[in-house]
Amino acid sequence: MERIAVSAVRKSFNLKPGQTVTVDGVTSSRIAVLDGVDLTIDSGEFITLVGPSGSGKSVLLDVIAGLTEATSGVARIDGVEVVKPHARTAYVFQQYALFPWRTALQNVEYALEVRGVPATERRERAKDFLHLFGLKGFEDRFPSQLSGGMQQRVAIARALSTDPQVLLMDEPFAALDAQTRDILQSELLRIWEQIKTTVVFVTHSIDEAIYLADRVVVMTARPASVKEIVKIDLPRPRDLEIRNSEAFNAYRGRVWESLRDEVGKAQRDWTLASTYAN
Ligand SMILES: Nc1ncnc2c1ncn2[C@@H]1O[C@H](COP(=O)(O)OP(=O)(O)O)[C@@H](O)[C@H]1O
Ligand SMILES: [Mg+2]
Repeated sequence: MERIAVSAVRKSFNLKPGQTVTVDGVTSSRIAVLDGVDLTIDSGEFITLVGPSGSGKSVLLDVIAGLTEATSGVARIDGVEVVKPHARTAYVFQQYALFPWRTALQNVEYALEVRGVPATERRERAKDFLHLFGLKGFEDRFPSQLSGGMQQRVAIARALSTDPQVLLMDEPFAALDAQTRDILQSELLRIWEQIKTTVVFVTHSIDEAIYLADRVVVMTARPASVKEIVKIDLPRPRDLEIRNSEAFNAYRGRVWESLRDEVGKAQRDWTLASTYAN
């Protein structure tokens, strides 16, 4: 069953006053970021999104999340056009977006509180999800008392505790060291196997993209569209060891080949891109 449908989504932004961009000899004060993105995602699918840095992956997630409006085209969840943040969509960012003044437990509870879950129930539920992510005994710690990996576990526990139909993850493990990242990837898969929510996960790691996904979506350089979709037919549940298999290696080559040209284009575009950086 189709859960997310992105149809012909285009997005452009006005540049800062006085700035212009020249593409193919045409000078404009707007920057085109998404250029007709089409993508349908089934209920319970795990999709990973790879593409050159600055290609528009975060903007695409924002459109699906209802955090930003498409310039044209439409994103739908269960057939309904996304016009504002959806109560059953959860978002996990690269930076641990936890409230520093709330404990781990209170951070998870917060998501339930805003959804009107009664106090006793939300405490139980928040605890269950922290335990699921191996945080038993850390409920009363403040974010500053937790490692980066633990903070990101809390953020994921918080997102999943709301029972989302759609979980959007924007490079959630990018700031973590390699080992912690490996552990969190397999934990995320273990929990996803149980709940099978629909996940759209952005990463710049090809290995992470393949290991997690049912399908890897390769985006073109900006202005982005879907370049290629690689179906990952590796058995589940997946062990980290699978990354050493021949099949995995073949996917690695395949995805890299698709991505390589786009990364090249994005690099040629680098001087241009750097003018938009904040
Ligand atoms: N609010 C904005 N105003 C202007 N430009 C933006 C805005 N948000 C993103 N961009 C530009 O859109 C492009 C794609 O950004 P982003 O989606 O963050 O890329 P990435 O694929 O790395 O996640 C970048 O060039 C960025 O500068
Ligand atoms: Mg991004």
